[in-house]
Amino acid sequence: MAVTIKSAREIELMKEAGKILAQTHEELKEFIRPGISTLDIDKKGEEIIRRYGCIPSFLNYNGYPASICVSVNDEVVHGIPHPRHFIEEGDIVSLDAGVIYQGYHSDAARTYGVGEISPEAAKLIEVTKQSFFEGIKFAKAGNHLYDISNAIDAYVRRFGYGIVEDLVGHGIGSHLHEDPEIPNFRQKRRGVRLQPGMTLAVEPMITGGRPDVVWLDDDWTVVTDDGSLAAHYENTILITDGEPEILSLTGLE
Ligand code: MF3
Ligand code: CO
Repeated sequence: MAVTIKSAREIELMKEAGKILAQTHEELKEFIRPGISTLDIDKKGEEIIRRYGCIPSFLNYNGYPASICVSVNDEVVHGIPHPRHFIEEGDIVSLDAGVIYQGYHSDAARTYGVGEISPEAAKLIEVTKQSFFEGIKFAKAGNHLYDISNAIDAYVRRFGYGIVEDLVGHGIGSHLHEDPEIPNFRQKRRGVRLQPGMTLAVEPMITGGRPDVVWLDDDWTVVTDDGSLAAHYENTILITDGEPEILSLTGLE
């Protein structure tokens, strides 16, 4: 499938989806505290998404059983919410959520520290978030897709962290996953030329140790092979004639 260019109408719908998703994350951030279960987070997230008139896009996607992916500590992504998995002080918790607004998707992830966390964990979270912003400095019409990948890679490697290679970002629109795939690590080719109207989900997944990941027996939860912590940060962006627009931030973060 080729990379699609969204129409003005499609972009309006994706902007609305993005605003609602940004707001969902803001509300979930306030909700996270020690003692709640990962399923409590999922239920709260689903309630917020539906309150805004959206559909949680992850629910039943390829059989995924929840609305919010909740991935704790060495879980990288796609953690399945569970009623007896309780959040503890010192945990780092990645929340990945997707919404559909009038047929159009937005996808975003955040990683939070719960209460007091180690300086190492805080640094990993900060670098992962910043790597997204370093990458999208290159998300401009006329540049090539892998300029984004290479910028994320160059930034993250300065800190000696692992960049997950088994999972990548993606185009997004009327489907959650569209072309192109967006790796977070250095590429030898330059990738497609970026054009205004492309909408992309850029999502670095970074580990405190080695980059290798494994899948648990639930066939969803991705964990670091060496048990190191992992962080995830993602937004849906729009390529324009100038700076990229980040659709899934409220602007108040
Ligand atoms: N942000 C993730 C992704 O882009 C969300 C997919 S989770 C799933 O792949 F449950 F929907 F698969
Ligand atoms: Co995504």
